Amino acid sequence: MTTTSMASKTAKLSGFLDGRPKRMLIDGRWVEAVSGKTFPSLNPATGEVLAQVAEGDRADIDRAVHAARRAFEGPWSKWKPFERQQLLLKIADLVERHFDELALLDTLDMGAPISRTSGGRRRILGMLRYYAGMATAIHGETIENSLPGEYVSFTLKEPVGVVGAIIPWNGPLGAVVWKIGPALATGCTAVLKPAEEAPLTPLRLGELLVEAGVPDGVVNIVPGYGETAGAALAAHPGVDKVAFTGSHVTGQKIIQASAGNLKRVSLELGGKSPDIVFADADLETTVPGAAMAVFSNSGQICSAGTRLFVERKVYDEFVGRVAEFGQQLKVGPGVDPSVQIGPLVSEQQLERVTGYLATGKREGARAVSGGDRLMDGELSKGYFVPPTVFADVKDEMTIAQEEIFGPVISAIPFSDVDEVIRRANSTSFGLGSGVWTRDVSKAHRLAKGIRAGSVWVNCYQAMDPAVPFGGYKMSGYGRESGLQQLDEYLNVKAVWIKTG
Ligand code: NAI
Ligand code: MG
Repeated sequence: MTTTSMASKTAKLSGFLDGRPKRMLIDGRWVEAVSGKTFPSLNPATGEVLAQVAEGDRADIDRAVHAARRAFEGPWSKWKPFERQQLLLKIADLVERHFDELALLDTLDMGAPISRTSGGRRRILGMLRYYAGMATAIHGETIENSLPGEYVSFTLKEPVGVVGAIIPWNGPLGAVVWKIGPALATGCTAVLKPAEEAPLTPLRLGELLVEAGVPDGVVNIVPGYGETAGAALAAHPGVDKVAFTGSHVTGQKIIQASAGNLKRVSLELGGKSPDIVFADADLETTVPGAAMAVFSNSGQICSAGTRLFVERKVYDEFVGRVAEFGQQLKVGPGVDPSVQIGPLVSEQQLERVTGYLATGKREGARAVSGGDRLMDGELSKGYFVPPTVFADVKDEMTIAQEEIFGPVISAIPFSDVDEVIRRANSTSFGLGSGVWTRDVSKAHRLAKGIRAGSVWVNCYQAMDPAVPFGGYKMSGYGRESGLQQLDEYLNVKAVWIKTG
């Protein structure tokens, strides 16, 4: 099926891509930007414009934050946990019913293969229903105190308030759920700023939130550019917390912008995650595991295992097999169900990634496979880079230090456990990490030694709504998923009652 016919199929499915400009959601209403401006959202597989989208900026963020504040102080604050749970379950049911359409919108708007976006069904629905469960599991504690006299002391957990959620483009549907789910579970309200590269799924999801009965102003969605809408949200004095996912450079700006009212910040940033293969690993499963730890989503995953450390004894064989595996993956427009590797999200991202390919070669790394943009036939219209494996990579090379966010593996040989722990940790990031071995003691030594928020042994990127995810070092702070995430959206109040 061609991309255009898939797009018209979507239009029939939802009426969403109907040629009309998409509006923003403020206070329960779909409105244009105050400025009247729009910006185009493109399909990165073809370069075609999918829709014009209202371009929010400071004025729209201001309206949205005020709506979120009013909603936070209004009847929503009286909703019982059980009612918030029912709302989240209803949202989950609606997302389930419209899942194919949402997955297709993600594919069209940011390029990921439909096999990947539709494969997210279990995870996304699981997240929504997990948060629904959590809504009724929030509780404070009674704490014994030692004051002379008689005092009862206990804690209340209260929603932190208005949340500014700023998300990236590399998995829009999941990213919205990851921020809005805990906000609704805890009784917060939110202003969501989707990424300018992929605002469509968040806006369609916004329609489903309204349909599910999310009260006016509880969730507002303001698409727009980072430097304008994003920056205004991060700096707004009416926002109590910013939940951000994106680059560490933007993360640093958000911290600075948050200083005005000392808002709470959680940051899920990038990485340069080590993936460590020992000679004793089961190579049959390790080859595809290590390859897809990077090539999935064309490498546009924060925890991609891009520094592939391979024990010297098997280095040449293993690197050759990973390169071969990558060469067999089908690259093309994500709407084709047989495609495994889609385009990069934008021309800008293409330039970044091809820039790193050139730097890698210039600094002396050897491209075993890939290494150049694909320009064959129809692929020349999109932003396609093939799975690339660089061998002979040295720790100090740029491609071993900086996040590329493309389908690019930097393969590095190593000899022993202590050495590889040290080298794995010699980066400013600490998000994910992988270890492939049959030796349980090595696995434990690595799990303890690596400074990163996740260690995956004989697997990569395993994720569950109940298991916390987040960074060490410059990969950010705060956790998503799990009980730890709910605490990011809650304040703790201590109450003292003198009873004597
Ligand atoms: P980015 O961090 O600039 O964008 C992420 C979000 O932040 C978007 O919604 C954007 O509009 C917003 N934003 C941008 N500037 C802002 C500002 N000054 N204040 C508030 N919000 C702002 O990332 P970008 O430019 O899309 O990608 C650049 C690189 O960042 C990628 O090549 C990759 O290395 C990394 N990245 C990491 C992600 C992750 O999942 N950790 C996701 C996206 C990008
Ligand atoms: Mg797009």
